[in-house]
Amino acid sequence: MIRVLVLGAAAGGGFPQWNSNSEACRRARAGDPAARPATQASIAVSADGDRWFLINAAPDLREQINRQPQLHPKEGLRSSPIAGVVLTNGDVDAIAGLLNLRERTPFTVFAHPRILDVLAANPIFQILAPEVVARSPLALNEPVPLRGADGRDSGLVLEAFSVPGKVALFMEDASRGESLGTEEGDTIGLEISARDGASRLLFIANCARVDEGVRARCRGASLLFFDGTLWQDEEMIARGEGQKTGGRMGHISMSGDDGSMAALGGLDIERRVFIHINNTNPALLADSPERAKIEAAGWQVAYDGMEIDLP
Ligand code: MLT
Ligand code: MN
Repeated sequence: MIRVLVLGAAAGGGFPQWNSNSEACRRARAGDPAARPATQASIAVSADGDRWFLINAAPDLREQINRQPQLHPKEGLRSSPIAGVVLTNGDVDAIAGLLNLRERTPFTVFAHPRILDVLAANPIFQILAPEVVARSPLALNEPVPLRGADGRDSGLVLEAFSVPGKVALFMEDASRGESLGTEEGDTIGLEISARDGASRLLFIANCARVDEGVRARCRGASLLFFDGTLWQDEEMIARGEGQKTGGRMGHISMSGDDGSMAALGGLDIERRVFIHINNTNPALLADSPERAKIEAAGWQVAYDGMEIDLP
């Protein structure tokens, strides 16, 4: 079995975002039930319900742990059910939460060497002392058993794969042309299965393009979490809330002929859920026509606290 908790559903900045005075953010602050606040994207997975692995460590992690009883300490005076953290990219919304896990309880960080290099290049992460927090490099396209710091098998198997994407925002190198210095491993997707079940969980919260590799991975998935950052590529510009297109940020949009709903439509995926939803995306609002459209296409929008059990 794979148990899944959605710790956070929103993209970087969360919902409402600290500096946004948009109508959507104002509705969220006012407690409008159709504009439910959301923290930054992360899920937790477990085979036994006792030991949990976080997929990404959002800056909101402290709040996410506090409101999720499964993640509260249960043994002795100092412990945590969090056995490991898997990182899919190096953006602030994926890694900054590691700093919340700094009080010397062992766990393992799993990430592609490109992202481990980001941690190594930023000395603030030395606060996770290497004798307490192991850093385990993930090779692409190789299934590995997920183990906690005590070496015990968790019953979960993880496979990382490359996804079209972009180097972390704060690592962009304009001198490298359009690539901005992006290399393989800067954005990965994850396939998670349990030894005792046939379910396949796919987590692709950052994706610039649905190519044949992404489609092949998603075929036959029991549950897909997919990049739901924007509804339309130019949404931030059109709303006067930013200068960048989705393409420039490394995120495919939901709608349109080359959007994710079209590109993933027709694939045999049991359940499909958008996550990493930006505060400008109208599909975040439960009463929007865009939400009705994604639901009609068989998609759901993740929300903080959503729980899904896969056999
Ligand atoms: C993104 O997903 O594009 C990033 O989270 C941007 C950021 O770090 O603010
Ligand atoms: Mn992000």
